[in-house]
Amino acid sequence: MPGDTQLTALTACPRCDKSPLTPKGDGYRCGACKVDYPSIAGIPWLFAEPDATLGEWRNRLQYSLQQLSNDSQRINASLSDEGMSDLTRRRLQHQREAADEHRNMLRKILEPVDIRSSQASYESYIALRTRLPGDQGISTYYNNIHRDWAWGDAENATSLEQIRTIANGGESLGKTLVLGSGACRLAYDIHMQLDTEQCVAMDFNPLLLLVAKSVMSGQATELYEFPIAPKSIDDFAVLRTLSAPESIRDNFNFVLGDVLRPPFARGSFDTVVTPWIIDIVNEDLPVQAARINQLLKPEGRWINFGSLAFNHPNRARCYSIEETLEIIEQSGFSAPTVHEERIPYMCSPASRHGRQETVVTFAASKNKNVQPPARHKALPDYIVTGKEPVPALKSFRSQAMSTQIHAFIMSLIDGKRTIGDMAAILEQQKLMSKEEAIPALRSFFTRMYDDTQKSAGL
Ligand SMILES: C[S@@+](CC[C@H](N)C(=O)[O-])C[C@H]1O[C@@H](n2cnc3c(N)ncnc32)[C@H](O)[C@@H]1O
Repeated sequence: MPGDTQLTALTACPRCDKSPLTPKGDGYRCGACKVDYPSIAGIPWLFAEPDATLGEWRNRLQYSLQQLSNDSQRINASLSDEGMSDLTRRRLQHQREAADEHRNMLRKILEPVDIRSSQASYESYIALRTRLPGDQGISTYYNNIHRDWAWGDAENATSLEQIRTIANGGESLGKTLVLGSGACRLAYDIHMQLDTEQCVAMDFNPLLLLVAKSVMSGQATELYEFPIAPKSIDDFAVLRTLSAPESIRDNFNFVLGDVLRPPFARGSFDTVVTPWIIDIVNEDLPVQAARINQLLKPEGRWINFGSLAFNHPNRARCYSIEETLEIIEQSGFSAPTVHEERIPYMCSPASRHGRQETVVTFAASKNKNVQPPARHKALPDYIVTGKEPVPALKSFRSQAMSTQIHAFIMSLIDGKRTIGDMAAILEQQKLMSKEEAIPALRSFFTRMYDDTQKSAGL
């Protein structure tokens, strides 16, 4: 809860790091920055630019709702085909009903985000260099909700066992922070089954935390699951009742915030848990490790859990386990204790799809303070200040060239020309030979065609 004295003592302003924040109404305020941080259905919204982040999430919500609505219209169009089989009709009707109900459910759950948002401060948002990654929408990790609170008991228990094993059974975790907590089942299990004094679960996706809060407070919540590979017609959309084994005990807090700008005071936590997150965020591991070092008390422990699948255009940043462990030791931690186990992952009973992952769990104790990392910059200065020259990067130049060609090709679409006609024009313009142009045009139009065929991606 905002205003909760235990949580307040841990907070720091995500803009200026001043600690603690001052409770104000049902949210917080930083007196130094003169910024109010609201609470969204009782969850503090501690992003560096709170209004603009609300605006961004609101846009993403509207986008998801729009996609669901488009999906429903497409299904209606398909249903108007009288020649379809009874089974196909039954499946489509089921999917349309689920898409419509799902849209209403999402809108209701996310009402607090929708109402409170404002677009006003996008400029300052950019200026603060914080922004949501473009690939994160409301429904990213949506399936985690169902694993956490519907069908995933065995997977959830196995995950907790990895943490219990590495945390040495009965040893207290003290004040614990779970970063990128998702739908929060692991944070819940850690708080309910291991010895924590306080547990703070932080994520930046409001859908995940709003559902988690409602379920963990004992309210059974209904939501549709849309399995990746449905086992039957009914499995294309399954209405699940989400529930927790029991209501969460005291001293558990939810925080909406950015892992790259954690709104917590230096040296606040005895344990920081990073489940399936260090290889997700767009920040180099040594920087993340220094930030986690900063959040921990002396002798505090960092517990990591996940598959270590780093993916970055700079291959040097896609670390192996050997490099990962070395980076941790170089970041003010003891040599990590490591446990590896092969576990089931996202094996919904309604889906033919499901994975096995060999997860790495490690624990390392902080043995010294390291140089705090600079504030995370999501964007470079030439975009933010507009006062530096835009660099003539090789990649920009080749993008510019292909954009020009694409614009030219689009201008050739007149409802009459064939690919062959267009290839002849590209050759006349000395852009490429006809032989090269035909396959290039074909793949360009294939991409455009594919884009028009994309569904809502539930
Ligand atoms: C792979 S999921 C793991 C979720 C959860 N830890 C679990 O094990 O089920 C990654 C989570 O990190 C969150 N996330 C990614 N980047 C983040 C950021 N910069 N700040 C806060 N949360 C972030 C996502 O919303 C998502 O819930």
